[in-house]
Amino acid sequence: MTAHRPTAVIVLAAGGGTRMKSDTPKVLHPIGGRSLLQHALTAAREIQPEHLVVVVRHDRDRVVDHIAVVDPMVVVADQDDVPGTGRAVECGLDVLPADLGGTVVVTMGDVPLLTGETLRGLVAAHVEAGSAVTVITAELTDPSGYGRILRDADGNVVANVEHKDASDEQRAIAEVNAGLYAFDLQVLRRALTQVGQDNAQGEKYLTDVLAVVHAEGGAITAHRLDDRWQTEGVNDRVQLARLGAELNRRTVEAWMREGVTVVDPRTTWIDADVSLGRDVTIHPQTQLLGASTIGSGVTLGPDTTLTDVEIADGASVSRTQGSLAVIGAGATVGPFAYLRPGTVLGVQGKIGTFVETKNAQIGDGAKVPHLSYVGDAEIGEGTNIGAGTIFANYDGVEKHHTTIGKHVKTGSHNTFVAPVHVGDGAATGGGAVVRRDVPPGALAVSTGPQRHIDDWVQRKRPGSKAAAAAAAAAGQENREDQGSA
Ligand code: UD1
Ligand code: MG
Repeated sequence: MTAHRPTAVIVLAAGGGTRMKSDTPKVLHPIGGRSLLQHALTAAREIQPEHLVVVVRHDRDRVVDHIAVVDPMVVVADQDDVPGTGRAVECGLDVLPADLGGTVVVTMGDVPLLTGETLRGLVAAHVEAGSAVTVITAELTDPSGYGRILRDADGNVVANVEHKDASDEQRAIAEVNAGLYAFDLQVLRRALTQVGQDNAQGEKYLTDVLAVVHAEGGAITAHRLDDRWQTEGVNDRVQLARLGAELNRRTVEAWMREGVTVVDPRTTWIDADVSLGRDVTIHPQTQLLGASTIGSGVTLGPDTTLTDVEIADGASVSRTQGSLAVIGAGATVGPFAYLRPGTVLGVQGKIGTFVETKNAQIGDGAKVPHLSYVGDAEIGEGTNIGAGTIFANYDGVEKHHTTIGKHVKTGSHNTFVAPVHVGDGAATGGGAVVRRDVPPGALAVSTGPQRHIDDWVQRKRPGSKAAAAAAAAAGQENREDQGSA
């Protein structure tokens, strides 16, 4: 494989993307959790080019900033005022050393489903045939808009004609140029100097290189690709959604083949950078996004959205939204939980129903089962937090931290006013508002003793249903008292 390592891949990404009607450059729109351009770069990296060049122009700074994040080793080339794919490639070649030879591959920044495997096949076919140019072509039932491949009587490729420049006879040709090529670098450099802008769009077409090479007697090979999705570009948001859905279909199917059960593939979304173990089960309406990693035997969903979440083996998460959280082996989360960044749940731990957590380290076997907010807190192993507990972390100015020790049992409806510490093995009473540190093993109570103001309802709410019910109950009690007396 290294024998076919190309000298360079040039990715064209200078176009405007007008039909997206967007403030965001077209190639930065995402599908499957990666920008269109990142998909193109990922495919290009798989064939290990010595140089990877991206040609930019439209919204140049934003595209360059994005490249610096996703692939800092990319060489950026700026296209000048001369329009067209041919000029774009020429500008790409200009940033490379002049004496380079070998193979250069050209791809598009807006064709996201193209795989590295396809590029590998293209380069192998090109090198093995010893061609000057190898162009990926596709047979389409509706070829309109694409460049058409022209062949001579012997079937040799002689040129490409763009749709806008084609005759009716040429437009009837079904074989189209996919816009993906391998070139002999020296041949390409020379041929581009001979390409002009005399065409319907006034652009310097890369496709005109084919006719130049043919006239020089160079060999041109058409490399047919049957998978049309891999050559389809994104021009508008309808295509963005179509290709996004197809990418997802492929991703979900690939995971099913790796041993993941997906109950409803149509409503399951898995980003390209997610990884899953064996025997994961995914219930309907589940989205696994970002760089989430899911261990084996995990059960997810229904109705769950996880972004950049790490889940260890055997855990289960249902009806939950989470991001930047870590869930330990065998732990359970949900239904109806909200895990915010910095949540770390230990082995066999539990974050239950209607619980929100943020920057919260919850120890092995510790439980926050019901109706609680845990923010900026550490909860020790084996501790149980009572229902309806609030970790009051914010004093209106600053956030503070709470620590609860190991094997603590807190009562229902507690408020922990941070900063505060509860020692190992301690307990708290129902309704406690804990403002001071609790020593290990102590029971903290903060509510006053209960007292009753007798007949308050009958006096303050005379004539109400409550007063009538109270009076009736009092009469009943009196009769019972007399009966037993
Ligand atoms: C191009 C091909 C066409 C092929 C089709 C496949 C040419 C002249 N035509 O047409 O034969 O069937 O792709 O999809 O090459 N770009 C630049 N600089 C420019 C112009 C374009 O970098 O000056 C980039 C765009 O950002 C885009 C790619 O090149 O990524 C293709 O440009 P586009 O104008 O969409 O070409 P098509 O008209 O689709
Ligand atoms: Mg065009």
